[in-house]
Amino acid sequence: MSKRVLIVDDEYLVSWSLERALSEVGYSVEVAATGEEARHKFEVFSPHVVLLDVRLPDASGLNLLQEFKAQDKDVIIIMITAYADVDSAVQTLRDGAEDYVGKPFDLENIKHTVGRALEQKYLKQQVDFFHREIRRKYTYDNLIGNSMAMIQVFKMIKVCGETDAKTVLILGESGTGKELTANSIHFHSARSESPFIEINCAAIPENLLENELFGHERGAYTDAVSRYRGIFESAEGGTVFLDEIGDMPLAMQAKILKVIDNKKFRRLGGRQEIESDVRIIAASNQDLLGLVGEKKFRGDLFFRLNVMNIPLPPLRERKEDIPALVNYFIERLNQEYGSAIEGISHEALDCLMNYDWPGNVRELRNAVERAMMLERGKLLSTENFNQDITGFAQKRDDAGSADEFHQGVTKSNNGKIILPPGGIALEEVERQLIRQALERYRGNQTRAAKCLRMTRDTLRYRMKKYDFQLQEWKM
Ligand SMILES: Nc1ncnc2c1ncn2[C@@H]1O[C@H](COP(=O)(O)OP(=O)(O)OP(=O)(O)O)[C@@H](O)[C@H]1O
Ligand SMILES: [Mg+2]
Repeated sequence: MSKRVLIVDDEYLVSWSLERALSEVGYSVEVAATGEEARHKFEVFSPHVVLLDVRLPDASGLNLLQEFKAQDKDVIIIMITAYADVDSAVQTLRDGAEDYVGKPFDLENIKHTVGRALEQKYLKQQVDFFHREIRRKYTYDNLIGNSMAMIQVFKMIKVCGETDAKTVLILGESGTGKELTANSIHFHSARSESPFIEINCAAIPENLLENELFGHERGAYTDAVSRYRGIFESAEGGTVFLDEIGDMPLAMQAKILKVIDNKKFRRLGGRQEIESDVRIIAASNQDLLGLVGEKKFRGDLFFRLNVMNIPLPPLRERKEDIPALVNYFIERLNQEYGSAIEGISHEALDCLMNYDWPGNVRELRNAVERAMMLERGKLLSTENFNQDITGFAQKRDDAGSADEFHQGVTKSNNGKIILPPGGIALEEVERQLIRQALERYRGNQTRAAKCLRMTRDTLRYRMKKYDFQLQEWKM
């Protein structure tokens, strides 16, 4: 997208030669000869740079400078002054002009001045951006997991980085890492040097959302006192992350679909179509297809977004990630708080493995953080986790406590095991009990062995004998 330059000068020869010189090097150029024309063109052409004569027949260049800056604080203004008029040139710099050139001027010099001003502005924006993003970037690789489900997620992140698909949809319950995944996609893509800007569609009232996304022109509505560049414009070349897209109003969904299809949009109240090169990553913790059925989400947008989709399974369906996540959080939080926790006790980890984590990884992180605050020893112990978590494991145990189990199934009231009248295959009893123990503890061999009062090695041996695959119970 070439940068737009507006030349404001009443001397035809001056503006003509400037227009030629700047067009030649690739700028898109418009010319205005009066203050009135300049105001109009500023409005519709929306220039990045204005070359502005200090003296105009119907207006003062200084006034225009202030007006333009008030309308668009990002616009670059270079004043054109007579050589004799150094005082007013200096004044223009005080009033916010980026630079000035003296008449008569050297065209090469002007090209250089415009180029340098744009470059400086660009560099400043980059520096601001990197300051904001450095923390984010710092953490972009910290998506932890070694379950099949997470390996699949990593693969998809890589594919998204390599292909530059224009839209990506991330679906998962709250706390499963949608935001982290979106970040990771951005920083693994060719867009990583450009901005990543996120907006939570559920947190912004409907009437402000369009403004935030597409910006507005001055006067688009009562409070619109100056031009405002929205997220789509600020993220040019980068990624827009539309979080909680399931809560986006239907009318906005239609507009988003239009931007995806046409790669163009208009600011609110704007006449000019602005080209847009951004990748859209959308995320939701809702069942979007269900919402489509209820006519609360547009089917066409859903199918457009769904082309590249990354499902993030809830933590209870990939419990094998828990130990790695716990270690990772302990390490991170040790650094953050200067603590020296070395790990977690077997018993406490067992509790964490047995809990269902409705709040997913976020809840796990919070639980570990709380336990670390309370822990006085080296290992996180069961007492320092919430009752909800440890009680959950307890409840499970209670629901099928060993005694109850024996009584109900194989023991009589006086504790004697009863041989059924038709006899029984002892191996089959053993096989069934081992299976039940493994089921109850979701493949945790230590706990299953304890419950069967045998050593872990014995259990392993029997499992092999009965050809039990651990995968069956692991989650
Ligand atoms: N795989 C993971 N590895 C490390 N940390 C994770 C992982 N998944 C999530 N987290 C951590 O869990 C917390 C929640 O993650 P995130 O904000 O990405 O979830 P979310 O799906 O966007 O949740 P919500 O729907 O509530 O917005 C964050 O602190 C994040 O760092
Ligand atoms: Mg989120």
